This record gives sequence, C-alpha cells and structure tokens, in this order.
Amino acid sequence: MTDTTQGVTQDADQNTTHFGFQTIAKEDKVSMVANVFHNVAAKYDIMNDVMSMGIHRIWKRFTIDCSGVRPGHRVLDLAGGTGDLTAKFSRIVGDKGQVILADINNSMLNVGRDKLRDIGIVGNVNYVQANAEELPFPDDYFDCITIGFGLRNVTDKDKALRSMYRVLKPGGRLLVLEFSKPIVEPLSKVYDAYSFHLLPKMGELIANDAESYRYLAESIRMHPDQETLKGMMEGAGFEQTKYFNLTGGIVALHRGYKF
Ligand SMILES: C[S@@+](CC[C@H](N)C(=O)[O-])C[C@H]1O[C@@H](n2cnc3c(N)ncnc32)[C@H](O)[C@@H]1O
Repeated sequence: MTDTTQGVTQDADQNTTHFGFQTIAKEDKVSMVANVFHNVAAKYDIMNDVMSMGIHRIWKRFTIDCSGVRPGHRVLDLAGGTGDLTAKFSRIVGDKGQVILADINNSMLNVGRDKLRDIGIVGNVNYVQANAEELPFPDDYFDCITIGFGLRNVTDKDKALRSMYRVLKPGGRLLVLEFSKPIVEPLSKVYDAYSFHLLPKMGELIANDAESYRYLAESIRMHPDQETLKGMMEGAGFEQTKYFNLTGGIVALHRGYKF
C-alpha cells in the first residue's frame, strides 16, 4: 500500500516500492524500468519533442543556465539517456573539461553515444553504465551533477541523492530536473486529461508502445512534490536548496549545494 496524501509518496514498507501506480517488490523495479527504456530508446527523442511540443528544450536550457558550469569543469549528466544535457555541457567545458554521461540502461546509452558522435561531440565526453544509487566515482569529483527526468525512475531516491552528494566537490551543485506538481488547479485538470488519455495514444501511434507512456504518466503522479523533494535533498546533506517551477509546476528544477 502506498500513501499519496498531499502529494507525498511513501512506501508502506521497506520491501515494496511503486512502479507507476502498481506496488511491487523493490528488487523488481530496476528490471521493470529497464524494460521501459529498452523499449522507448529508439523513439525517445522524437517522443520527447512531440509530447512536450518542444518545451523540454526550454527546461533543459534553463537547467544549463542555472548550472554555473564553466570551461575546465567536470560534469556528471546522470541518467543522461540520449545526451541532450551532455551535448550542451560538452560545448561549455571545452577541451580542458570533461562530461560523463552515466545511465543504467545500455540501450539509452547507445542511442545517446551515436547521436552525440553524429553531431561531432567527441573528445571531452565519456559514457558510463551506472546505477545512480551506487555511483562508481571517487569522492569530491564533480563540479556539477545534473539528473534530468531520471530520479523518478530510481528505486531508492534517498540513497541516490546521498551517492550524488558523495561524488560532488565541496562548492559543487546538484540540479534535479523532474516532473512535479502543477501549482494551478485548472492546469492540473487539463494536464491529467492529457497525460492519462493522450500520452498513451501518442506512445501507441509513434512508438508502438502505449504501456511505457502509461508508466510515464503514472510515475509522474507518484513522484515526490516540490517541497518533499527539497526536504529529501536536505536530508542527503545538500544546502541552500531551492526550486524553480517551470510551466506552472508541471516540471521543477531543484538546486542544492555541497559545502
Ligand atoms: C526519461 S529518461 C531521461 C534522459 C535524459 N536525461 C533527458 O532528460 O532526456 C530517464 C533515464 O533515466 C535512466 N535511469 C533509470 N533508472 C536509473 C538509475 N537507477 N540509475 C541511472 N539511470 C537511470 C533511464 O535508463 C533513462 O535513460
């Protein structure tokens, strides 16, 4: 059983978690999420553009603008998938910097690597298959970490946030870009109709996969709201945390520092 009162999502016991609206054994979540992203990898980019009417590009641009990343920095684009943020960071950090695109899913990593190579992004980008909960990097290693539309899919989000905190340098910042809770009631209703009816239909038409896009809509509803996620970041050690509501809170960008 899962408690979703006031937008706060809590697992009922230590052995279960949620996969969209289903309650499942924790150990099953990684493979179920993996199936979703193996299925959508090839059509991921086109679906992103269609579903968000291109607006995901503006959310990602805002993330870059809030990152403070400069030439020479080392950046982790966690759950980086097809590499939109990595491509932008690669241009900013330049020859003396480095961007690591890490993702748990090899299908998404392969699509990302091919895409970035096709557009000439080589040299300062490395690809690592890794689980956000157990990052295979040294302590105090990155100037900046981003996780874009990834945290929602992670089984133990608190563990992942602690892992990100560990590998961030003192003075570094974490940016969590994720779907969140709309702050305007009429928008909420339209958004619900869109997500639960139109989204699976688009998934069916474009990617021949309604189920994965039903999971997307459900997982968004089960994700912690703005204040809850801010509290979770603070619980992992992040300071000066704040969030920016984007597109009426459909998406929020959370920022926190390690000092
Ligand atoms: C919706 S995609 C986001 C991709 C990209 N960041 C973007 O914004 O377009 C979510 C990504 O999270 C990855 N992911 C899911 N669980 C993960 C985990 N535990 N650790 C690392 N990556 C994970 C998936 O494989 C997928 O590529």
